[in-house]
Amino acid sequence: MVQCAKHWQNTMTDTPILQVENLTTHFFLKQGVVKALNDFNMTLKKGEILCVVGESGSGKTVMALSLLGLIPFPGKIMSGRAMFEGTDLLTADKNKLRDIRGKDISMVFQDPVTGLNPVITVGEQVQETIMVHRSISKRDGQREAIAALNSAGLPDPKRIFSQYPFQLSGGMCQRVMLAMAMVMKPKILIADEPTSSLDVTLQAQIMGEIRRLRDQAGTSIILITHDMGIVAQMADQVAVMYGGSLMEFSSTETLFMRPTNPYTWSLLQTIARIDQPDKSLRQIPGSMPNMIDMPDKCPFLSRCSKALNSCRNGGRPPLEQVTPGHMVACYNRMYTSD
Ligand SMILES: Nc1ncnc2c1ncn2[C@@H]1O[C@H](COP(=O)(O)OP(=O)(O)O)[C@@H](O)[C@H]1O
Ligand SMILES: [Mg+2]
Repeated sequence: MVQCAKHWQNTMTDTPILQVENLTTHFFLKQGVVKALNDFNMTLKKGEILCVVGESGSGKTVMALSLLGLIPFPGKIMSGRAMFEGTDLLTADKNKLRDIRGKDISMVFQDPVTGLNPVITVGEQVQETIMVHRSISKRDGQREAIAALNSAGLPDPKRIFSQYPFQLSGGMCQRVMLAMAMVMKPKILIADEPTSSLDVTLQAQIMGEIRRLRDQAGTSIILITHDMGIVAQMADQVAVMYGGSLMEFSSTETLFMRPTNPYTWSLLQTIARIDQPDKSLRQIPGSMPNMIDMPDKCPFLSRCSKALNSCRNGGRPPLEQVTPGHMVACYNRMYTSD
């Protein structure tokens, strides 16, 4: 009996809600091809928080926009599969995808202009979302919209309710979108750097709200960030990206205990340390490679202190399993399996 219950519980938490395989998205510019995302893979399980982390320009936003069919011209999804409840998001028709975006998967955009209607007040947009999902009176809808704006960290939510997106800062628009996502209780929430412009107190409040959405509604979360501190606080699983490639994927614990890709290792060194405050702003030496017509090699090659001849001569390192659930793309792993 006990074994049965345990088995059931395991199946619940291990059930993937979204499975992405070999997702590749390129932008075709006059100057050449920007290989923004190459062979990206991930599995998002029900009710988990997956953090996607990497420096600016590593392909995080392109990955999220690809999943939702929102890649702008001259971008093109070259290959891949993204299975959500039996539907491949990459080949689903426009109406089906719009349906899924409205109901099952919602995104808080890094660029807030993308997500809100410019000619409707933000409060009405949240209220409308509540009323589409639940049969409640207009007055109750308004009350709940104000509460949602409040819990998304917006000051003076009654006043904000009747303002238009252009009257708010980018960070405030992001919080309005977060409020909308929270009232929808989607199956998946994708939040793209939702707190990057905020002070630590507000950041902590919003992270608390995101966690509560997961705990209370069972929402699976893809949280995009460049901040390893947020990863440590929030993530169950982590996808580390660099130069359009997935470098490492594992549970948070494994990533911090046994970072295996030299890039992950470097990223961990950038975390502010209480015992070494003077080194708190340490940067990884060198800069991101030019993504236009990038050779099919490890994107970290030019900055990597562990590079071997095989890295210089080989192609892009394939993603390989080190231990179950721990995937790494590297010819010279810093840790091998135990
Ligand atoms: N609309 C676009 N046109 C051309 N290149 C783009 C476009 N959007 C993103 N890119 C390029 O794709 C790469 C990945 O960008 P992005 O996903 O925004 O990075 P991140 O979100 O990790 O900071 C970058 O080199 C960026 O310049
Ligand atoms: Mg981005």
